[in-house]
Amino acid sequence: MRNLHRAKLLKLIDFLFFDNEKLNLILINMAFPFITAEQAAEFVKNGDNVGFSGFTAAGTPKFVAPAIAAKAKKEHEEGRPFKINVFTGASTNDNIDGELSRANAVNIRTPYQSCKDTRNSLNCHEIHYFDMHLSQLSQNLRYGFFGKIDVAVIEAREVSDNGEILLGAGVGNIPTIAQMADKIIIELNEHIPAEIRGLHDIYVPLDPPYRREIPIYKPSDRIGSPYLKVDPAKIVGIVKTNSSDHVHDFAPLDETTMRIGANVCKFLIGELRAGRIPKEFLPLQSGVGNIANAVLHGLGESKEIPTFEMYTEVIQDAVLELMEMGKCRFGSTCSLTFSDETMDKFFSNIEFFRDKVVIRPGEISNNPEIIRRLGLITMNTALEADIFGNVNSTHVVGTKMMNGIGGSGDFTRNAYISIFSCPSVTKEGKISTIVPMVSHLDHSEHSVSVLITDQGIADLRGKDPEEKAQLIIENCAHPAYRPLLRDYMKLGKGGHTPHCLKAAFGFHEEFIKSGNMQNTNWAEYCK
Ligand code: COA
Repeated sequence: MRNLHRAKLLKLIDFLFFDNEKLNLILINMAFPFITAEQAAEFVKNGDNVGFSGFTAAGTPKFVAPAIAAKAKKEHEEGRPFKINVFTGASTNDNIDGELSRANAVNIRTPYQSCKDTRNSLNCHEIHYFDMHLSQLSQNLRYGFFGKIDVAVIEAREVSDNGEILLGAGVGNIPTIAQMADKIIIELNEHIPAEIRGLHDIYVPLDPPYRREIPIYKPSDRIGSPYLKVDPAKIVGIVKTNSSDHVHDFAPLDETTMRIGANVCKFLIGELRAGRIPKEFLPLQSGVGNIANAVLHGLGESKEIPTFEMYTEVIQDAVLELMEMGKCRFGSTCSLTFSDETMDKFFSNIEFFRDKVVIRPGEISNNPEIIRRLGLITMNTALEADIFGNVNSTHVVGTKMMNGIGGSGDFTRNAYISIFSCPSVTKEGKISTIVPMVSHLDHSEHSVSVLITDQGIADLRGKDPEEKAQLIIENCAHPAYRPLLRDYMKLGKGGHTPHCLKAAFGFHEEFIKSGNMQNTNWAEYCK
């Protein structure tokens, strides 16, 4: 009998002292109940405002939202209404936007999405989507513009009994969402390496009239805490998980994206040579996606671009390569949106990267005050731009929402130099991305410094509308569309911005009619 006790005791000692992970779990479980995703979903009621951690797929919960979707389907089958309002940092993963949209479980969605199913639902108003500058959601929530937050769902690596939460690879708006939430559910994801500890810098500014300067004077400045602190009494349960963020790889670089990347580098080198960018260079912001990937690749290849820092909202695979090459010295971001392979590489060499990365809330990564102070060179992607320098980043042919404005407005409006790029044509040349008038306006000519396509560069700074049009048509438009655009300029009846209002959407009208903007016939508009 005594021997049996002794064996049990030894086993317990071994269990407790030689497996920190298990010890942690025991301690967490003493403070908070472990629950299943289905049990977590029971805390979410019809009409609730639900906020999720993360930014892109990074740091975004993966299991509770599908359980909420399943609950919604069941409620619908039984004839009861069930929809929630979804607040996030930016786009999410298919487990949130995809599952909830397919279950018809979303009423309001903000601030950004990039999911096919959500897109379909919001474009027919099944989901009420309001597209917001990402930096503004946290403060607008705190101002009370969108009501209270009922439930926060947070992906975490660790949680302590006093409510200190070590987040995953993306933060988003969770500091404010957690502060406001009535109930908090934690997805405790053991897939996240413990080495993530120390990468976050969590800071929430005071609200007007008490707000002070946000004391970031260089991208690497730290002003907050490595943990998110929440009221532990609000934590209603912990769902144990084990999953990577499953970030998709980008399409390989093609000739068009490579040419855009090369043109962006050419422009930046010209600015350096002319002394308009200081020789120490300035921090860069880069959007996410294939074009951004090509631009970053071009920066890495260029011998004349000096080493640089980034102050941006997303760090993707290409940035890690630039850090390894010594080209990028530091990256301040809201998320590490890495493919699984790159994430493994990052954490297996964490001591090299530790002093090169900080992960911040979106309210800080995208903060206009800091963007203006640091003098960011911003690089974002347009769906279309008009010949006078206005940019549409969101609406296909003026009506269908693609993704949203995301952080592009936060950065563009406050940049030292704001660059927009896009291919000159898309859909096998049937769409010109350079149009007479944008069919939706996200970034006005007042905020757009430079437009770059695979064809070339239009530096719009200090130019009047006619000069802008000349530069954009001759340097950026595809040769197949230049004659049409030149002819459009002849239709204008004068004025500072010489539009012909009858014909301004001629390209779009033609695309709707024949499926090819090249068939545009201006004579039809001049009858
Ligand atoms: N009209 C109609 N369709 C267009 C178009 C236009 N003017 N321009 C592009 N498209 C289509 C493309 O053909 C492509 O279609 P497909 O998916 O069927 O192949 C799709 O739109 C995406 O275009 P692509 O050239 O691959 O660009 P992208 O993936 O880089 O995305 C944006 C471009 C503008 C949609 C994307 O950058 C975005 O959502 N931006 C807004 C948010 C933002 O800037 N975030 C970063 C801030 S930090």
